Amino acid sequence: MTYNKKNIEDIDVAGKKVLVRCDFNVPLKDGVITSDKRIVEALPTIKYLLSKGAKVILCSHMGKPKGEVVAKYSLAPVAARLTELLGQTVELAADTIGADAKSKAAALKEGQALLLENTRFDKREEKNDPEFAKELASMAEIFVNDAFGAAHRAHASTAGVADYIPAVCGYLVEKEISVMGKALETPERPFVAILGGAKVADKLNVIDNLLTKVDTLIIGGGMAFTFAAAKGYGVGKSLLDDTKLDYCREMMEKAEKNGVQLLLPIDTTVADGFPNPIDAPIDVTVVDSDKIPADKEGLDIGNKTMELYANAVKAAKTVVWNGPMGVFENPTLAKGTIAVAEALAESEAITIVGGGDSAAACEQLGFADRITHISTGGGASLEFLEGLELPGIACLLDK
Ligand code: 3PG
Repeated sequence: MTYNKKNIEDIDVAGKKVLVRCDFNVPLKDGVITSDKRIVEALPTIKYLLSKGAKVILCSHMGKPKGEVVAKYSLAPVAARLTELLGQTVELAADTIGADAKSKAAALKEGQALLLENTRFDKREEKNDPEFAKELASMAEIFVNDAFGAAHRAHASTAGVADYIPAVCGYLVEKEISVMGKALETPERPFVAILGGAKVADKLNVIDNLLTKVDTLIIGGGMAFTFAAAKGYGVGKSLLDDTKLDYCREMMEKAEKNGVQLLLPIDTTVADGFPNPIDAPIDVTVVDSDKIPADKEGLDIGNKTMELYANAVKAAKTVVWNGPMGVFENPTLAKGTIAVAEALAESEAITIVGGGDSAAACEQLGFADRITHISTGGGASLEFLEGLELPGIACLLDK
């Protein structure tokens, strides 16, 4: 999916009220933000608008409060962090489109910013209700979407508002779609994609789409066992979706037909069962992937596979990675995921990590600054890799 959308520099924002949708859905523990990546990534857009004398009205969702006001999903910690990062007060309105939001928005001076309360505190947000979108839009003259992480949602604050005021993208959305769009449409080759994660069902369309784009497709994680079973291997007690065996066979045929090298694990780290709790110490052995004993469960890729995958990354000019190779929450079973993250960090290629668990792994391991682009989108980056049109971007003005 390629987009050519107007951005904040294509529209006059000076002195105007600008509604900016961000994805401030950051992880919180006991009310404290544990990763502010999404807030930091929104700063270039916010700073640009403030520097141009815009009156900036920020909005976002947080969590899934299902249309109710739920205190733990208040954006108060985000307002506090924004205030620190911008070095100027970002007040939080008590509501989203209510009297407090409206009076605070109306009182904004040039170069000031306000944060509206969680858009999902109103059930009309996720329904993309036109009245809610209209009310939100009525507070501003321009809409800027910089919430890449929520761009796959057709909600009132991500897409609906664009029906009422001119809508353009911010720097983060622009960066995400240009880096990932270029990788998918005109990649430097060899182009290698690495897909992991538990369930093949979550990645059906991603696999299908990538098989028309890449030179090598690498599969790891729980979903590799359905491919192994489709090849006729026993997978013991490993995760298996036997409704997707035909699909996996079809994909293997498609890879062959398209001249795509499809790499599956050649060895597997197995144990008696899934660790419980997830980070509990666990006894493991490594077996060839076509010889998983009936009473064992595969939980990570083995050393030979790590080397095979690292070599494929070494030979690549573009690498896209989405999804862990094993149960990476467990130190013994994190080795495959670490090996892939390390291979990307050491690579000279354009390396793109598509959000979610693999992004968290790169950050926790301290590799983030050696990766070309780590997406702020989980579901959104996956839908982008599927080639789907994202409603939060499709609604913006074309260049
Ligand atoms: C995310 O965390 O992926 C985005 O903020 C979207 O959140 P959602 O899945 O609750 O829509």
